[in-house]
Amino acid sequence: MLRIVVLGSGAGGGVPQWNSNAEACRRARSRDPVSRDPVSRDPALPGRTQSSLALSADGGRWFLLNASPDLRQQIIETQCLHPRTGFRDSPIAGVILTNADVDHVAGLLTLREGHRFAVWATTRVLGVLAANPIFGVLAPELVTRCRLPLGDAVAILDGAGQPAGFQVEAFAVPGKVALWLEDAAAGANFGTVAEDTIGLAIRPDDGGPGFFYIPGCASVTGEVADRLRGAALVLFDGTLWDDDELIRQGGMAKTGGRMGHVCMSGPQGSLMALGGLGIARKVFVHINNTNPVLLPESAERATAAAAGWEIGFDGMEIAL
Ligand code: MLT
Ligand code: MN
Repeated sequence: MLRIVVLGSGAGGGVPQWNSNAEACRRARSRDPVSRDPVSRDPALPGRTQSSLALSADGGRWFLLNASPDLRQQIIETQCLHPRTGFRDSPIAGVILTNADVDHVAGLLTLREGHRFAVWATTRVLGVLAANPIFGVLAPELVTRCRLPLGDAVAILDGAGQPAGFQVEAFAVPGKVALWLEDAAAGANFGTVAEDTIGLAIRPDDGGPGFFYIPGCASVTGEVADRLRGAALVLFDGTLWDDDELIRQGGMAKTGGRMGHVCMSGPQGSLMALGGLGIARKVFVHINNTNPVLLPESAERATAAAAGWEIGFDGMEIAL
């Protein structure tokens, strides 16, 4: 059996994002007595930390799927990640990365206090970490770097080399190199290679159902759809409702396509593209604070629900 906890359901910036007055941010902030607006009629919304899941096949050792800048807070709020016995302890046995985005790797720096664990990522992403001396705070003699190949299921090991009880097949999905690694001189794709953005197919060794984790995906190609057909569970990129919503809301001049995120709406959107594939459970994660599905009374939320989607939330637990 696999146990999954959504540690952070937000995209980069979270909800509220420190410098955003998007409606979801204002309403999340209004839970805070310091900034509560006494005349606001908007119901408060829960906050969302940045993109990460925790996964365990044995209930004892936990693997982080991406390590967000909010990891310290996420650990505090998640009992199964607390130290158990002894002066120094953590159930965190490994981290599996889907890309090198800030919201997925910055949390590695939180794990720097001499704890043994394994970091799994593509050769490309391991290279990015190796090229940045700050990640040297994860001493190599304690923190093993392990290569995730594309297209081959591998048995995940913890930092002591013991099998985790599940396998992961990494596969390339349409995407973009991390924003902070974009090479403007490299042409239209900014130097992106296949290993920059991956999806994960995860299966427990006990033969139970597995799931897919794809927090970033620029388009649902036929290949992506074919992989997900008939899945028991898919946790998928829920960044945007409309491709141009950041531009319309005044956030920044970038479309979803430019950022490497397919939107939910429209003929190419994830609601249509992942409809009719017989996926038993579909959950959006990596949800940006501009996305109207965050507003419970919105028409967009109702449309997503009618298409069979759940809106992931921090602390959401799923047992498969
Ligand atoms: C993204 O999901 O597009 C990235 O997290 C953006 C970023 O790195 O700021
Ligand atoms: Mn992100």
